[in-house]
Amino acid sequence: MTYNVKLFFEDDHEAAITCAPDEDVISAALRQGLILMSECREGVCSTCKCFLADGEYGELMSHSVYALSPGEAEEGYVLACRLRPTSDMEIEFDYPFSMVQQYEETERRGSLDQIEMVSDTVARVVVRTMGAQDPLRYLPGQFVRISLTNGVSRDFSMANVPDDSRRLEFFLRVYPDGEFSSYIARDASPGEQVTLYGPRGKFILRDNDRTPVFIAGGTGLAPVLAMLRDLAADRPAQRAVLIFGNTNVGDVFGAEELKVLTEQMTNLEVISGVLNPDDSWTGEVGTATEIAQKYISGTDRSQFEYYYCGPPKMIEATTQMLETIGVARELRHHEDFVPSRMEESHG
Ligand SMILES: Cc1cc2nc3c(=O)[nH]c(=O)nc-3n(C[C@H](O)[C@H](O)[C@H](O)COP(=O)(O)OP(=O)(O)OC[C@H]3O[C@@H](n4cnc5c(N)ncnc54)[C@H](O)[C@@H]3O)c2cc1C
Ligand code: FES
Repeated sequence: MTYNVKLFFEDDHEAAITCAPDEDVISAALRQGLILMSECREGVCSTCKCFLADGEYGELMSHSVYALSPGEAEEGYVLACRLRPTSDMEIEFDYPFSMVQQYEETERRGSLDQIEMVSDTVARVVVRTMGAQDPLRYLPGQFVRISLTNGVSRDFSMANVPDDSRRLEFFLRVYPDGEFSSYIARDASPGEQVTLYGPRGKFILRDNDRTPVFIAGGTGLAPVLAMLRDLAADRPAQRAVLIFGNTNVGDVFGAEELKVLTEQMTNLEVISGVLNPDDSWTGEVGTATEIAQKYISGTDRSQFEYYYCGPPKMIEATTQMLETIGVARELRHHEDFVPSRMEESHG
C-alpha cells in the first residue's frame, strides 16, 4: 500500500509522489527523483519544515524542539524528514519549485586561505576551493558544512556572493570551548585542508518588490551580508533595512563591509545595537529583537518582508515578536544557527 502525497510550492507549482507507510516524505520524494530542501534528515535543522494542509500521520519521528516547536506543530507545521503519512496528503512548501531542482549537494576540497580576528569574539575565515574542481555555485544566504581534517564538522554561511574566484568568506563566532571555532582561532593555520559539503539551506532573498528587513544577531550577519552584496550588485537602488545586534561592544564586527554597502546602496538603512553598551557606544541599546521591534513599530511596515538570522534564542524571540505584531508567516524567513552540541531531542 502507498499513499498519494501532493506537494505545493510557493510559485503555485505542484508535484505528486507516492509514499510507503514506513517511508518519510523526503526519502519518498528522493526515490522519485525530487530533491526537496533538506539537510540533516534527522529532525534537527528545520530546513524541511512545511505545512500540512491535509492528511494524517501517527506521530513525527524524533526531532529537535529548535527545528519544530510544539506551537508550530499545533499550527499544522511538520518536518518532512520526520513525517510518515498514514493517509493521502497535501503539503505546502514555502519555497519555489526551482529550488527543488537547483539543490544539488556537492563536495569541494579546499584550504584555509585567511584567518583573522575581526572583533573580540568573531573570526573572518576565507576558504579557497581547489582549482581542479568547478567553483561552488550557491544562492546568497546559503551555507556549507565545513569538515576539518580532525573530523570536526560544522555549518557556516557564506558572506560573499558566488563568483569564479573560488574564494568563500565566513564569519565565525569563537566560543572558548567550541570544538570547531576555538580550533580555528587558536590552532589552525593557512594552507590547512578542509572539505565543504553543500550548498545547503533555503534562507535566500525572495524575488519580489517588498522591502527586505534583515535582523542579524552576531555572526547571523554572514548570510545577510551575502544577500546585501547581491542586492548591491543587482539592484543598488532597492530599499533595505539592516538591524544588527550584538551582546557587547567588543563583539561588533563588519563595520568596513557595511560602510561599503551603504555607499553602494543609497536606500540601505543600517541600525546597529548592543545589549551592554560602554561609554564609547553611540548606537542603539538592546537585543536585535528589541531594536527591530522599536524600528518596525515606528514605521510604515506594510511593504516589509523579514529575514532574520542568529542563535536560537534570538530566532525564538524575533519569531515571537513578529507573530505578536501580526506579520504573516510567508513574510518571515529565518536561519537558526543551532549549535550542534546544543541539539536537544524530543518526540
Ligand atoms: C545552518 C547553520 C548556519 C550556521 N552559520 C554560522 C555562521 O555563519 N557563523 C557562525 O559563527 N556560526 C554559524 N552556525 C553555528 C555553527 O555551525 C556552530 O554550531 C557554532 O559555531 C559552534 O560551533 P563550535 O564547534 O565552535 O562549538 P561547539 O563545540 O559546538 O559548542 C561548544 C559550546 O559553545 C557554546 N555555544 C555554541 N554555540 C552557541 C550559541 N549559539 N549560543 C550559546 N552558546 C553556544 C555551548 O556552550 C557549547 O556547548 C551555523 C549553524 C547552522 C545550523
Ligand atoms: S532535514 Fe533537517 S529537520 Fe528535516
